[in-house]
Amino acid sequence: MCGIIGYCGPKPAAPILVEGLKRLEYRGYDSAGIGVLENDVLHLVKRAGKINDLRNALPDGLGGSFGIGHTRWATHGGVTDRNAHPHADGRGNLCIAHNGIIENYTALKRNLETKGYEFRSETDSEVIAHLIADLYDGDLERAVKSAVRLLKGTYGIVAMHRSEPGVLVGARNGSPLVLGVGHGEMLLASDVTAMLEHTKQVIYIEDGEVVRMTADDHRTTDTRDNRIDRSVETIGWDLEEIEKNGFDHYMEKEIFEQPESIRRAMQGRLDPDTATSHLGGLNMTNRELLDIERVKVIAAGTSYHAGLVASYLLESLARLPAGAELASELRYRNPIVERNNLYFAVSQSGETADTLYAMREIQRKGGRVLGICNVVGATIPRESDGGVYIHSGPEIAVASTKAFTSQLTAFYLFALLIARKRDMSYSAGLSFMRELERIPEKVQVVLDRAAAIREIAKKYAGAQSFLFLGRGINYAVALEGALKLKEISYIHAEGYSAAEIKHGPIALINEETPSLFIVPDDALRDKIISNMKEVKARNGKVIALGVDGDNELADIADDVMFVPSTNELLSPFLTVIPMQLLSYYTALERGCNVDQPRNLAKSVTVE
Ligand code: G6P
Repeated sequence: MCGIIGYCGPKPAAPILVEGLKRLEYRGYDSAGIGVLENDVLHLVKRAGKINDLRNALPDGLGGSFGIGHTRWATHGGVTDRNAHPHADGRGNLCIAHNGIIENYTALKRNLETKGYEFRSETDSEVIAHLIADLYDGDLERAVKSAVRLLKGTYGIVAMHRSEPGVLVGARNGSPLVLGVGHGEMLLASDVTAMLEHTKQVIYIEDGEVVRMTADDHRTTDTRDNRIDRSVETIGWDLEEIEKNGFDHYMEKEIFEQPESIRRAMQGRLDPDTATSHLGGLNMTNRELLDIERVKVIAAGTSYHAGLVASYLLESLARLPAGAELASELRYRNPIVERNNLYFAVSQSGETADTLYAMREIQRKGGRVLGICNVVGATIPRESDGGVYIHSGPEIAVASTKAFTSQLTAFYLFALLIARKRDMSYSAGLSFMRELERIPEKVQVVLDRAAAIREIAKKYAGAQSFLFLGRGINYAVALEGALKLKEISYIHAEGYSAAEIKHGPIALINEETPSLFIVPDDALRDKIISNMKEVKARNGKVIALGVDGDNELADIADDVMFVPSTNELLSPFLTVIPMQLLSYYTALERGCNVDQPRNLAKSVTVE
């Protein structure tokens, strides 16, 4: 969603801000703008559309060595130049950029209007600029602190004032802000990717904190002026990891990285001597792990689908009752938190508002929540009681791919750990572990078949509607396949249990609606084949995703894709890859913006 970048230093600010915004593009946005101070004049340039539109609108030779930039994902007010950030006060003295939602902006606006302040946009954010102007008495930091005390809602804010050249002030409540500490330069951003080119030394700003920065100094305090000293951390990502490295799209790169990213998620965490896993970050004793009576996964989007796979897995492998629930639903239904329940908040970004608020609700009730996250230092891992980093490296494409298989990896390690504490023998544990270790090479085998999947994508790219059908542990993969396709190709797609097809979806079947069946080599195979025949009998087109050697599928289905055989419980690692590739190639055929699909955001930081 929205992105913030601020820069103070010796270099011209505008190109750095624009480059920073380019790095934030992946989060999803619909307009962008920057504000820089040059020769005592505050220049604001804002454009609806892409960063390139903003770049083209910049005056030649725009100087100034400090400023702020923003990518906006519209919530209040349409996608227009005016509604884009930064927003200035009426006199052009100060400007701000804001992520989040100000819930009491109507009341604040009314009050400011009675004092004569004129609003120029339809946004909630503009109220912050006028409020700071109203409270300003020569000290921006103090004015920001007074202003945020009056705000209700979520915010990451960065502000600058004409009377204090070289000073930026940031404030955070619920929307991430990271301070980048460079050599003689300082950056403030909503996401470390925006500053990676300049520094890897960062300080994570926490909720309720205000940071004042200049090119060579920074100070963090709470809104009551108590000083906060936090140590500088080093970002583990390299610039190279956020480049496309020869691939056409980030999504393609991330799909093809999966053998490596899965391997990385496992690295150093499997122990053949004891046939179990080590997950040091859980912060739980052996006894506490043994005492778990139920696991509940809370998440959104693709991460929720990883949770569905996990709950099936935990019940089957570890015989531990488990379930997954959408975080957005759990938060508002007064969930029952029992003593020996263990919760997992799964989030690639670690910033998804629904997941974060659900996690806080569980913790408020005394529940223990572990995070499964990718972005180190994000809010969910910092606030959770422990957890597992999946180490996928940056995932830039909006549609999640490698994070999904790495989230699965974390859950498979956890399931093995619990299973071995309960009733799984050493030899059963070892053979499961060995098969898990073979997954990266089997994923590579599926990726090597991408060309065949591309042909199938070409054939069905004109479809209006698509069904994805699976059973057992692959039911969740069917849901994920449908989500992937609709996200990036805009084809209406539904994921269903193949068994449920007779209870509704079969009414949709005609020659134009393809059904993709996941047909693993397990006890339900024959039942799924019967479902496929039911669709064929109604002239539906059938694509079967089966296991190598299942030659019968070609006699029934119109098209067939194959994955190598593996342990039934491990099959989601392999069956999800053709789904990702099919979606990617379909989106290409349809000329869609694969990495930044319309209306979607990578990290959904508002409810
Ligand atoms: C958005 C993204 C999805 C992602 C979901 C959850 O909808 O577009 O790709 O699965 O958020 O994100 P999280 O960062 O919490 O995993």
